[in-house]
Amino acid sequence: MNNTLRIDIVCAVPQALASFMQTSIVGRGQEKGLVEVVLHNLHDYATDKFKHIDDTPYGGGAGMILQAEPIFACIDKLQSERSYDDVIFLTPDGVRLTQNVCAELSLTQNLILLAGHYKGIDQRVRDVLVTREVSIGDYVLTGGELPAAVLTDAIVRLLPGVVGDAESVLDDSFMHGLLDSPHYTKPAEFRGLKVPEVLTSGNHAAIRSWREDMARTKTMERRPDMLSDTHEE
Ligand code: ADE
Repeated sequence: MNNTLRIDIVCAVPQALASFMQTSIVGRGQEKGLVEVVLHNLHDYATDKFKHIDDTPYGGGAGMILQAEPIFACIDKLQSERSYDDVIFLTPDGVRLTQNVCAELSLTQNLILLAGHYKGIDQRVRDVLVTREVSIGDYVLTGGELPAAVLTDAIVRLLPGVVGDAESVLDDSFMHGLLDSPHYTKPAEFRGLKVPEVLTSGNHAAIRSWREDMARTKTMERRPDMLSDTHEE
């Protein structure tokens, strides 16, 4: 089985994402053949000669709505070429993204990320094509392009072989239900600020226990919800 994860991003302004996908961790993953990110411009699927992909909302109201036709045309074409594990719509009213969901998605083969723009998209797209709706946080961006890039980055760095040091990914915030502990590097003293002694002691058990304590304290202060039994993860 081919183990390259393919991510098709369907959006109104792919130019906004092109350079990001060629650089950073995602660029490295593509160079190594571990992921392939393909950008699709909804304007290429417009049905009128002016390449309109949006229109005013039925029932009135402010803002423009992305039309169903170009989105169906693009996604129908992709689905006729291969089968997809998920068609993910990025939207502020989606389910809030977590590290667990990123880990789950990193095990898939083919994903479509659909980025909205303007005020929203025609509900029929969500009803028929979309299998998952994801929000990257409780704030509203102009479009789903940046959220699609965020989701891509968070998935790709979990693919084995993309990040050089696999342990570095396993230690990240959220991987063990805690926020990450503080990090230091050389020099051992900078402007009178010293690195905690335990980290230079060479005592690995003591270092592990210090990191665990720091992670727990930080999580308690900043994200007590992560320590309660009712936390979603
Ligand atoms: N589109 C606009 N804002 C968004 C958000 N917070 N998450 C996902 N998609 C969005």
